[in-house]
Amino acid sequence: MEDKRVKRRIVLVPVPAQGHVTPMMQLGKALYSKGFSITVVLTHYNRVSSSKYFSDFQFLTISGSLTESDLHTLGPLKFLMKLNQICETSFKHCLSNLLQEQVNGNDDIACVVYDEYMYFSQAAVKEFQLPSVVFSTTSATAFVCRSVLARVNAESFLINMKDPEAQDMVFPGLYPLRYKDLPTSVFGPLESMLKVYTETVNIRTASAVIINSASCLESSSLAWLKRELHVPVYHIGPLHIAASAPSSLLEEDRSCIEWLDKQKPSSVIYISLGSLALMETKDMFEMAWGLSNSNQPFLWVIRPGSIPASEWTETLQEEFSKLVSERGYIVKWAPQMEVLRHPSVGAFWSHCGWNSTLESIGEGVPMICRPFTGDQKVNARYLERVWRIGVQLEGELEKGIVETAVKRLIAGEEGEDMRKRAIDLKEEA
Ligand code: UDX
Repeated sequence: MEDKRVKRRIVLVPVPAQGHVTPMMQLGKALYSKGFSITVVLTHYNRVSSSKYFSDFQFLTISGSLTESDLHTLGPLKFLMKLNQICETSFKHCLSNLLQEQVNGNDDIACVVYDEYMYFSQAAVKEFQLPSVVFSTTSATAFVCRSVLARVNAESFLINMKDPEAQDMVFPGLYPLRYKDLPTSVFGPLESMLKVYTETVNIRTASAVIINSASCLESSSLAWLKRELHVPVYHIGPLHIAASAPSSLLEEDRSCIEWLDKQKPSSVIYISLGSLALMETKDMFEMAWGLSNSNQPFLWVIRPGSIPASEWTETLQEEFSKLVSERGYIVKWAPQMEVLRHPSVGAFWSHCGWNSTLESIGEGVPMICRPFTGDQKVNARYLERVWRIGVQLEGELEKGIVETAVKRLIAGEEGEDMRKRAIDLKEEA
C-alpha cells in the first residue's frame, strides 16, 4: 500500500559540474535513505535527471541559466560569477512554486542545502525564511584557505603571489601549504578569485556547514572551521563510501574494465585529470614517453576537449598512438570508482580534485599528483606531505621524471609503504 504520510523535503542546489554534482547526489541518496524526499534544482538539464538511479528524486530546472558548455567557454570563475548573478530571481520563483505545492499538500521543505559556490541561493532562502545549510564539496583545508584569503590584505597578497621568491615559502598559518599551493585559479585574475572566495565563505543566514571530509584526514582544518565559523560545522565524508550514487555526466567506457581484468595485480597506472583540467600537447608527449619507458601498463582517460584540438595534427596523433599502443589503453571517460577498486590498479595519476582524492583514499591507492588549478594544489600538498600517500610532480613535466615517479610508486619499497598508509587511511575513513 502506498505510504500517504507527508515527508520532509530537502532541496539540493548543486553546481552544474561533475566534481560538484557527484557529492551532492551522494548526499541526496544518503538523506533519501533517512526518509527525506529530495528535490534537486538544476541550472540546466543534465543526464543525472534522467538516470533511473534517481527516479525517486524530483528534478527542477530553473530558467534563464547557463549550460555546461558555457562552463567550458567562460571557465569556472567567470561561469560561477555569472551564474550567481542570473540565478537569484529564477531560484526565488522555483522555491515559491515549491512552497505553493506545499500548501496543496505536498511534502514541506525542511531545508535547502546549497553548494558553497551557489551562494545566490541565500537570497531566496532568506525571503521565504527557510532553514539552509552550506555544503562544502571541496576539502576542509580548501575552505580554511578561502577563509584566510578572504581576510588578507589583497594588495600585499597580490604582490607576494607575483613574487617568484615567495612561491616556496610557507604561507603564514597554513603550514605545510606554500604560496604556490594556495587555491589560486588559472581561470581568471586573482582579484576575481578573491571576490568569489569571499562569497563562498560568507555563511550569511545558513544554520550549519557540512563538509565532505573526515576527521582522520583533516582534523586541524576542521577544528579551525569549528572555531572560526559562527555556525555548527559537520564533517560527513567521504560520502562516496556511505552513499554510492552513479552520477556521471559523461558516457562511461566500460571496455577498460575488461582490459584491466587482463593485467597483473597492482601493476596499472590509472590516469585521469577529472572533468575540467586541460593539458598541453607537449606535456602529453612527455607523459606518454615517461609512461612508455617505465614499462608499466597504463589506463589513460583523455577527455574530449582536454587537449587543444587545433594542435592535434595527424602526424602528432600517429606519433602519440605509437607511444601508447604497446602498454596503454585510452578511453574518453571511465567508471572511475570501479577502476580504482580493480585489483590491477597500482597507482592513480591525478589532478587531485577533491572527489578523486577521496575516491583514491577510499580504495587505498597511492597517487602521482599533478594538480592543475585551485583546491587541487592544496590536496596535492596534503597527499604528499600530510597523508604521505602521494608523490607530487612539480615544475616542468619531463619524461625522465615521469618514469621515475611511476617506478617509485609501482615497483619500489617507497610505493609499498605508501600503499600500506593508503590502506590504513582507507580503513580509518
Ligand atoms: C572540480 C574541481 O576541479 C576540483 O578541484 C574540486 O575539488 C571539485 O570540482 P573535477 O576537476 O572534475 O572537479 O575533479 P574531481 O573532484 O576529482 O571530480 C571528478 C569526478 O569525476 C570524480 O568523482 C570521478 O570519479 C569522476 N570521473 C572522472 C569519472 O567518473 N570518470 C572519469 O573518467 C574521470
